[in-house]
Amino acid sequence: MSTFGKFQRVSTKTLNLMKREGKKIAALTAYDYITAKLLDDAGIDLILVGDSLGNVFQGNETTLPVTMDEMIYHTKAVAKGVSRSMLVVDLPFMAYQLSIDEAFRNAGRILKETPAGGVKIEGGKRVAETIRKITENGIPVMGHLGLTPQSIHQFGSYKQRGTDEDEANEILKDAKILEEAGAFSIVLEKIPRELAKKVTQSVSVPTIGIGAGPYCDGQILVTPDMLGLNKEFHPKFLRYYANLADILDGAFKNYIDDVRESHFPTDAESY
Ligand code: KIV
Repeated sequence: MSTFGKFQRVSTKTLNLMKREGKKIAALTAYDYITAKLLDDAGIDLILVGDSLGNVFQGNETTLPVTMDEMIYHTKAVAKGVSRSMLVVDLPFMAYQLSIDEAFRNAGRILKETPAGGVKIEGGKRVAETIRKITENGIPVMGHLGLTPQSIHQFGSYKQRGTDEDEANEILKDAKILEEAGAFSIVLEKIPRELAKKVTQSVSVPTIGIGAGPYCDGQILVTPDMLGLNKEFHPKFLRYYANLADILDGAFKNYIDDVRESHFPTDAESY
């Protein structure tokens, strides 16, 4: 933890120490103030403003339409609820692919316009020089390997990655390249557990898994998914920690009935 204003903040150093001490890192996503505050108060180590907001907040099929301005808008809201956790923000599709300078400018925008402490970039070798430039200039970067949703049209599906030997070797090589380029952590998405174990043992920076099994240094889930808000989305790796869709459905139906039958508001609820 490092001192930041009057609060103790989780930093890249904290996360690295957690790996060295064998303490698991718990991470979740947030896109709004209320959720971020609940996560921060609950003691989450890292909050990601993921471009998954393109799916779960905006209702798009892919993350590709998300813009830099939208990421900054959501991060400003999230940041108001965060005083302790490390806050990391996805660079959306086309915010870092055009050129290294453009990527650096956009990473800088995140840190200049919001209180976030780092950015996340998808990809391996092809983004290594971009990560080097950004980290050398004081902006922490989290890598993301395996299933990288911004490449969905190249992959053709959201299937597991790294199941054949060539791709598994490439992911392992990419992880080492990202570490060498300065990434402070690497998300491993939807890869076999044994590959995630190998990667985790091969790099000194913490790996954060989503659908990558138990051997990663930490885990992340998309918060609306783990809260059971979208019952149509249930991949093998997802554990529901609540059934909010049913709870909300009940609450909405009760409210509708109460209004229609004039049971709400009562005298006590009126001025
Ligand atoms: O966008 C996102 O929420 C992510 C996580 C799934 C790691 O990248």
